[in-house]
Amino acid sequence: MDIADSEPASGLRQSEFHISGKTAGRTEAIGFNLGRLLKPGDIICVAGELGAGKTILCRGIGAGWGAFPPLNSPTYNLVHEHERPADDGRLYHLDLYRISGARDAESLGIHEILDSGALVIFEWPERILELLPAARLWIDILPREDDGRDLFLQARGERYTALIKTLWRMLTQARGAAHAAGA
Ligand SMILES: Nc1ncnc2c1ncn2[C@@H]1O[C@H](COP(=O)(O)OP(=O)(O)OP(=O)(O)O)[C@@H](O)[C@H]1O
Ligand SMILES: [Mg+2]
Repeated sequence: MDIADSEPASGLRQSEFHISGKTAGRTEAIGFNLGRLLKPGDIICVAGELGAGKTILCRGIGAGWGAFPPLNSPTYNLVHEHERPADDGRLYHLDLYRISGARDAESLGIHEILDSGALVIFEWPERILELLPAARLWIDILPREDDGRDLFLQARGERYTALIKTLWRMLTQARGAAHAAGA
């Protein structure tokens, strides 16, 4: 696990790292650590094939942020609104699997959601690529043969590059402590 900066064509600062989600619990814990760092207006995109572990990661993110009710697999509703009672914070969790394109998303009120100042988390964000802000955190989840998952985090823009650097420090320190304890 290493963190790398790059100078992208878009002009937005960019940073990325890879981490292994060996078990579902580990993937959820990575999400939990990320959720603790999130602020109103943050945009988090979670991509990966069916069953990759997007919702597991989102559940961890929601728990770390303090969402009520807990994040789950969206059923018929594509948009789920959650609160954080401590400060009246709001989080939208959207599953765009059944969206046919940007038009369809517009009828769901995607612009209003993005402008609302709430924390927004997308599953299947590739469905609405052209509507997403350029500055965002993008996470790709790739299943491995051993049931583990490879998580690739890519931050674009100042806010998100700073965010994943903090997350990377949190995760490496936690790992260092686990090694020191003989885990
Ligand atoms: N290392 C792992 N990380 C995440 N999930 C794992 C892992 N190993 C096994 N799993 C299992 O894989 C499944 C992932 O399901 P989940 O609903 O999170 O996927 P999804 O990407 O949201 O799927 P969908 O595209 O249908 O929304 C869960 O049953 C989870 O327990
Ligand atoms: Mg899901």
